[in-house]
Amino acid sequence: MELKVKESVYEPMEDSHMMQREIEIRAKGKKVLDIGTGSGIQAITAALAGAKEVWAADVNPIAVRCAQSNAEANNCDINFVESDLFTYVPKKKFDLIVFNPPYLPSDGIHEDLRWSGGLEGIEVILDFLSQVKPFLARDGAILFIYSSYANPDRLAKMMKRFGFKLEVVSQKHIFFEDIFVGLATIG
Ligand SMILES: C[S@@+](CC[C@H](N)C(=O)[O-])C[C@H]1O[C@@H](n2cnc3c(N)ncnc32)[C@H](O)[C@@H]1O
Repeated sequence: MELKVKESVYEPMEDSHMMQREIEIRAKGKKVLDIGTGSGIQAITAALAGAKEVWAADVNPIAVRCAQSNAEANNCDINFVESDLFTYVPKKKFDLIVFNPPYLPSDGIHEDLRWSGGLEGIEVILDFLSQVKPFLARDGAILFIYSSYANPDRLAKMMKRFGFKLEVVSQKHIFFEDIFVGLATIG
């Protein structure tokens, strides 16, 4: 895959590649939505794996343009929207919704949309989980990244409260944290 990343756009890291591997085995024939697309890596992975339809969103307009040009470089037909979470995502049902969110706790001063997931690190993913259901097909699934460093126990509790079943499909120790790929279904 050919990817160019501009300043202020998340350079794909190990978390991106963990997510990519899970998308590769699940996207074929599916309608896929990638929230927080950044460079477009996950949306492009879904398109190259044979997804039926792919939408991608990011709140950062520079990321949206960067992902659009990466999609063109890889001959992928992807629909992009500049959107804070689901605000401008069309009201469709997706089979697979993926989000590698900003998931590190922030100090409240140095906020960066690429990394800062709020004071606990899970605020952005919790907002996402509170809004995702109307966009998810009945037997659809969500793939998302989270960290042992950002209150995973409260995240698991909140997921139950939102009515999701959570399964860890991939896990890796990186520097000071364990990174997880969670698979959530309505359960
Ligand atoms: C950790 S990066 C992941 C980028 C890419 N998906 C990947 O896997 O490499 C998080 C991305 O989420 C975007 N983002 C942060 N808050 C968002 C929000 N409220 N709505 C949409 N995108 C958001 C950031 O701009 C950034 O591109």
